[in-house]
Amino acid sequence: MSQDDLYHGRTEAQLSQEPVVRCREVIKRFGDQTVLKGINLEVYPGETMVVMGGSGSGKSTLLRCMIGTHKVDGGTIELFGQNMGELDEDGLNDVRKKFGILFQSGALFNSMTLAENVALPLQEHTDLDQEIIDIQVKIKLELVGLREHADKYPAQISGGMKKRAGLARALALDPKILFYDEPSAGLDPVTSAQIDQLIIALTKQLGVTSVVVTHEMDSAFTIADRMAMLDRGRMLCVDKREWFEHLRDLDDEATAKLDEDRQLVRQFLRGAPDGPLAARRDEQGYSEDLFGMTVDRVTRTPSVEPTRG
Ligand SMILES: Nc1ncnc2c1ncn2[C@@H]1O[C@H](COP(=O)(O)OP(=O)(O)O)[C@@H](O)[C@H]1O
Ligand SMILES: [Mg+2]
Repeated sequence: MSQDDLYHGRTEAQLSQEPVVRCREVIKRFGDQTVLKGINLEVYPGETMVVMGGSGSGKSTLLRCMIGTHKVDGGTIELFGQNMGELDEDGLNDVRKKFGILFQSGALFNSMTLAENVALPLQEHTDLDQEIIDIQVKIKLELVGLREHADKYPAQISGGMKKRAGLARALALDPKILFYDEPSAGLDPVTSAQIDQLIIALTKQLGVTSVVVTHEMDSAFTIADRMAMLDRGRMLCVDKREWFEHLRDLDDEATAKLDEDRQLVRQFLRGAPDGPLAARRDEQGYSEDLFGMTVDRVTRTPSVEPTRG
């Protein structure tokens, strides 16, 4: 292992900081399927860490382990220095107040207005007076540009607005960490670019730490400070965004000198048909899974050019 592998692209400041999320050799199984195979990952205060990987690689599972929804079967996960595996339900609830989650589906309550949706965590987890809650709700809706839509119901707004409302709700308790699972899934390219910009703006304004899980490369490269690449439950590499950009843009000659994991990462970043993944083609349609949105650029036979653009 080179020194770079140990630094994981951390900044000078991060080398002397304590991480807010620390995963050590995390193992997660469902039945006899091992979905996470010894994951190591550290996330530092104020950074945006993007976890990438194809569909089924274990991204959502890792996120659910981090937030304590799943118990790990091996290794440890610490949030703010606390071992999630050792906390009882009360302890978990205390930690949960310190982070916000934006899930794939947004998950707003349809029978409640946007304002009521955002107020809910404040009513459940604080003793604040209703007037104070109302002010908090206005501030959070303003942050995501929805203050004038406070009294609308989820059915009355667009998909992008629902995502923003979900984000306002995730921000309700002024979290130190925000966890996002595929924040731009199901949105058109313009709206998903707007969500990316909102994530960047919020991270800067509020100084929160963000952990974003996505299979969308454009989005990943737009918002990440550091990136991590998961593949079939294994962490291929963790490094700063610039390193992944460099790897993506390497020419074929330079790529041939890389180890197989790095070649695999480059192939994934480029959505390219040729590379180590070619050898997996015949395994149960794995390439479809792996490439997700770039599947139309993958050919069945490695030596043949794609038949359509
Ligand atoms: N609750 C569960 N029970 C059983 N298998 C699961 C469960 N959640 C995820 N899996 C399996 O774990 C693997 C990884 O899933 P997931 O973490 O959702 O991947 P990703 O988010 O990267 O698409 C998949 O094979 C999936 O079928
Ligand atoms: Mg997922």
